[in-house]
Amino acid sequence: MGSAVKRAVVTGGARGIGEAIARRLADEGMRVGIVDVLEPEGRAVAESLSGTFTAVDLSDAAAAEAGIGAAIDSLGGVDVLVNSAGAFGRSSLLDLNAADWDRVMAVNARGTLIAMQAAARRMLADGGRIINVASMAAKHRGDGEGHYAASKAAVLALTRAAALEWGQYVITVNALCPGYVLTDLGADTRTSEQVAAWTALSQLGRLGTPWDIAGIAAFLAGPDGGYFTGQALNVTGGMVMH
Ligand SMILES: NC(=O)c1ccc[n+]([C@@H]2O[C@H](COP(=O)([O-])OP(=O)(O)OC[C@H]3O[C@@H](n4cnc5c(N)ncnc54)[C@H](O)[C@@H]3O)[C@@H](O)[C@H]2O)c1
Repeated sequence: MGSAVKRAVVTGGARGIGEAIARRLADEGMRVGIVDVLEPEGRAVAESLSGTFTAVDLSDAAAAEAGIGAAIDSLGGVDVLVNSAGAFGRSSLLDLNAADWDRVMAVNARGTLIAMQAAARRMLADGGRIINVASMAAKHRGDGEGHYAASKAAVLALTRAAALEWGQYVITVNALCPGYVLTDLGADTRTSEQVAAWTALSQLGRLGTPWDIAGIAAFLAGPDGGYFTGQALNVTGGMVMH
């Protein structure tokens, strides 16, 4: 990787898992650029880390490409890209409509692809690390959230393809597959009964925290993570074991 102080662009860094990853990478000494559609929240996180903020709606392909490029420029380059921005929805397949499919796919699948492309083009000379936040839904179940599960399976396929195409440039590309994490993402669809049922699925008797995910991201972005590529790591408290 290129510069002495590593530069990390984190999409979805305004809150939740992305915010925790941004804070953890800053703790590790990296300079962080946050990309998010939530402007005051993202700017506040960036300022607290002496980082940069770029307001982008990643569901707009042209804006996503320009915005990721601007975020990279704001750091003077990029060594690490974390794609944590994500959209969620619940619908049975029989009720799923094209608008919901497009909304989720535009952020999770296409937005991830565009960010990966923009970062990789700037990593060709000196290498880099790309970390995509997918979901255990990419591998496991998906009932009631088929479009979300499909979008995250697409993220795993993109991770694999990129690891194969970009390994020659010493760009590593990995995915994290979190289990249940109590962030704002699924808050509208959550009941106390569901939380209890999900907790019971973990072999460790608890749900994940954003910090559980951030620690693994820091490992993949850091000095010990250089020989991992094309992997999809389950961070699920044992809910998924393959
Ligand atoms: N929370 C969980 O249980 C869980 C489980 C598995 C995977 N994930 C994945 O982790 C990632 C982070 O989720 P989270 O739980 O922190 O959710 P969150 O809703 O707290 O954070 C998601 C962030 O992405 C940003 N974002 C959403 N759409 C965007 C867009 N169009 N343009 C720019 N930014 C956009 C949001 O503004 C927000 O800051 C997502 O990709 C999600 O699918 C979450």
